[in-house]
Amino acid sequence: MSSIIAAYSGTFDPITLGHNDIIHRAARMFPQLIVAVGLNPAKNPRFSLEERCELVRAASGDLPNVEVKGFEGLVVDFARDNGVTVLVRGVRTVGDVDYEKQMAVMNRDLYPQLDTVMLAPSPEYAHLSSSLVRELTSLGAPVAKLVPKPVVPVLLERFGRKASRRTR
Ligand code: COA
Repeated sequence: MSSIIAAYSGTFDPITLGHNDIIHRAARMFPQLIVAVGLNPAKNPRFSLEERCELVRAASGDLPNVEVKGFEGLVVDFARDNGVTVLVRGVRTVGDVDYEKQMAVMNRDLYPQLDTVMLAPSPEYAHLSSSLVRELTSLGAPVAKLVPKPVVPVLLERFGRKASRRTR
């Protein structure tokens, strides 16, 4: 069997410790993992695609089998172009499972060679999301327990209390 290439797709606006946990788990499971950072204009991301890719790279730099790539358009096209046959997604809640199941079936319909593997993050990260992290940062909450170390200064600079005052 040829070696499996997996991709973990998401918006990563910005990467959180929950995402990082999934990246580390998936990197142990698959010989090659691509973190696929979606342009996702519909979500109106606060960090540019380049910034989001850079932050994921900075957070996962300790993993030799992980690379980070931005993509635009359908995730199945990214998979086809990059030889990806396994899509990794994190599921935090029962609500996530329903949504992910729908996406998994749709993606497999579009590209039958692609299967989705859902991983549960550690319970301490089950409540995390990128928008919650941005909100907590703007309200002055400590962020070191929410995002990987290299993300902390960038997040504070963009969303910290002083930054919020500057943009008022
Ligand atoms: N830890 C912390 N947060 C997590 C998480 C985890 N393990 N897993 C998911 N989340 C959060 C994210 O931070 C995000 O929070 P936010 O809404 O506050 O930003 C939220 O859950 C949604 O997750 P995300 O990873 O951004 O996925 P998404 O559902 O927005 O999907 C793409 C992003 C790019 C993968 C998806 O839109 C896509 O595949 N787009 C391409 C177009 C396409 O092919 N569409 C058809 C799909 S069937």
